[in-house]
Amino acid sequence: MTPLSLTVREPDDFHLHLRDGRSLEAVVPFSAARFARALIMPNLRPPVCTTEQAREYRARILAAVPAGTHFNPLMSLYLTDRTPPDEVDRAHASGFVLGFKLYPAGATTHSDAGVTEISRVYAVLERMQEAGLTLQVHGEVTDPDVDIFDREARFIEVVLAPLAERFTGLRIVFEHITTRSAVEFVLGARPGIAATVTPQHLLMNRNALFAGGIRPHHYCLPVLKSETNREALCDAVRAGSSRLFLGTDSAPHARAAKESACGCAGIFSAHGALELYAEAFEAIGALERLEGFAAEHGADFYGLPRNTGRVRLVKAPWTVPAAYPFGDDELIPLRAEERIGWRLERLE
Ligand code: NCD
Ligand code: ZN
Repeated sequence: MTPLSLTVREPDDFHLHLRDGRSLEAVVPFSAARFARALIMPNLRPPVCTTEQAREYRARILAAVPAGTHFNPLMSLYLTDRTPPDEVDRAHASGFVLGFKLYPAGATTHSDAGVTEISRVYAVLERMQEAGLTLQVHGEVTDPDVDIFDREARFIEVVLAPLAERFTGLRIVFEHITTRSAVEFVLGARPGIAATVTPQHLLMNRNALFAGGIRPHHYCLPVLKSETNREALCDAVRAGSSRLFLGTDSAPHARAAKESACGCAGIFSAHGALELYAEAFEAIGALERLEGFAAEHGADFYGLPRNTGRVRLVKAPWTVPAAYPFGDDELIPLRAEERIGWRLERLE
């Protein structure tokens, strides 16, 4: 019997961490093999704050793309309390910067240079609204008194909802949503608001952090949530809203930095990202929704042309390696030594 297969428009990844240097070289080929374009996150050390820095970083990314592969990195600039409003004009003129990333200071990996108080960036947001650039938002409050599982919902209440009302024309992507509250907010919001959804938040709930012992490679931010919340995300993508699209948040860290007494947040999924989404969509009986989510809604939201190539997914399980090389260390991928149910074949 021939295996089940699915041919879809070539997808884009609208939330990706590639790092720099030898780490960058180690991970770019995985994304370039699957996605035509990706929106690259700017949380390097030091952060990518200016259009000029993004231009240089983008050139290093392009240099790491394997010969014969097309991959277009689009950039997000790191918003800080000191971002000058005219940086928006340079970003807009570049043609490759899609927006600015709002990291509440202290919310996640390399976010210490982030925004300490949202009112400090109002002038920049005003200019972004005029230029039509998008604000990509890490949506969690950083108050240590707020329970980690409530930080996304609280952020909606105290920051995001008021912001969306204050800047009624600002385009906003609520990144890597994880809760029913976020789904309800995005689906009920004014036009110009959308969200990315990761494979891990569709496939796993918080039990995966403690299955048989503590699992550092399942730790990311926002942290995995309860089954009820996972189901809310699945229901929303099954319904096919054009406000929801693919952003893996693939976030590689060296094994030593993850397997530590204070391990870094981040799940690496680029080695099997589209295949993992295919699994998730199959599990909820919504394979026919995969193409819109992976290849159309995001491009449409950002006003980019849809890709014209095609990729084929075959339901043929494969076993993920135990580790991949990563500079001087190694990288433990999601599903290491376990199977992914779908395999990618590229067509043109
Ligand atoms: C990301 C990283 O490692 O850069 N980590 C993560 O857990 N998702 C940062 C982020 O997107 O929050
Ligand atoms: Zn991220």
